[in-house]
Amino acid sequence: MPLIRMMRVTDHMKLREQSTNGLVASVSLLARPPSLCDWFLVTSQNTISARNLTLTYDPDKNPVEVLRGIDLDIATGEIVALLGPSGSGKSSLMAVLSGLERSTSGDLHVAGQNFTNMDEDELAQARRGNIGIVLQAFHLLPTMTALENVATPMELAGDADAASKAEAELRAVGLGHRLDHYPTQLSGGEQQRVAIARAIAPGPDLIFADEPTGNLDVSTGHDIIDLLFKRRQQTGATLLVITHDAELAERCDRVITIGDGLIAKDSKAA
Ligand SMILES: Nc1ncnc2c1ncn2[C@@H]1O[C@H](COP(=O)(O)OP(=O)(O)OP(=O)(O)O)[C@@H](O)[C@H]1O
Ligand SMILES: [Mg+2]
Repeated sequence: MPLIRMMRVTDHMKLREQSTNGLVASVSLLARPPSLCDWFLVTSQNTISARNLTLTYDPDKNPVEVLRGIDLDIATGEIVALLGPSGSGKSSLMAVLSGLERSTSGDLHVAGQNFTNMDEDELAQARRGNIGIVLQAFHLLPTMTALENVATPMELAGDADAASKAEAELRAVGLGHRLDHYPTQLSGGEQQRVAIARAIAPGPDLIFADEPTGNLDVSTGHDIIDLLFKRRQQTGATLLVITHDAELAERCDRVITIGDGLIAKDSKAA
């Protein structure tokens, strides 16, 4: 999504709601109340806005306090690397920010939606089409072809053009000749490219990638990162990538390091 969005503002309430939830930075001001037909240029500043986020796994029986009060704003279009030692909570934070996991407490707004009190079904609905997720272990469905793996989530979301969008995205990641191949017939790098196509094809505002090169050799890993960055540049999506790779982190606009359930370092704040 572009940095600047055209929004139709229908009344004062809507305008104020969007301004106060931290998702809209500036709204062109009129000397009079907006009419139904006014069009406003709105700068959407933060795609992610988190306040005092906590996550405790299994709070009743065997509590594991993983996130202990995360405050984080990520601007629309930003490319952010998330670093930190193993077990520091990177994947857990990504799971919460992407709506895969509910936080234990705190406030969270993502891609224009208030995640704070959503239940699992509402989070699944909120993710659909807005958030693309690429995991380390690809997570392709083995009984589906590359094309079906990319198209099916869009079909389930009711997209009538799912098949043609999936094919176009697979061609964009260089897999036009592998549309009907099953995951077992693809190399690791090709499987990860299918996973990237699946995340990007619906045109999400936000892409999360959890160590997307972790299962690949160095050279294939570089190709995958080049591809991810290229597709991200073409779509303008916000990208948050978890990595242990300092070279990859250097290519990002911003590097956030997590430690002991808190943000230990943020290159933007430095
Ligand atoms: N479902 C769960 N139940 C209980 N504890 C969990 C669960 N998932 C993760 N943890 C614990 O939470 C902590 C953070 O895990 P997380 O996977 O977020 O770390 P990470 O920073 O992504 O590590 P890595 O770099 O190894 O992937 C770990 O101590 C882990 O054991
Ligand atoms: Mg992890």
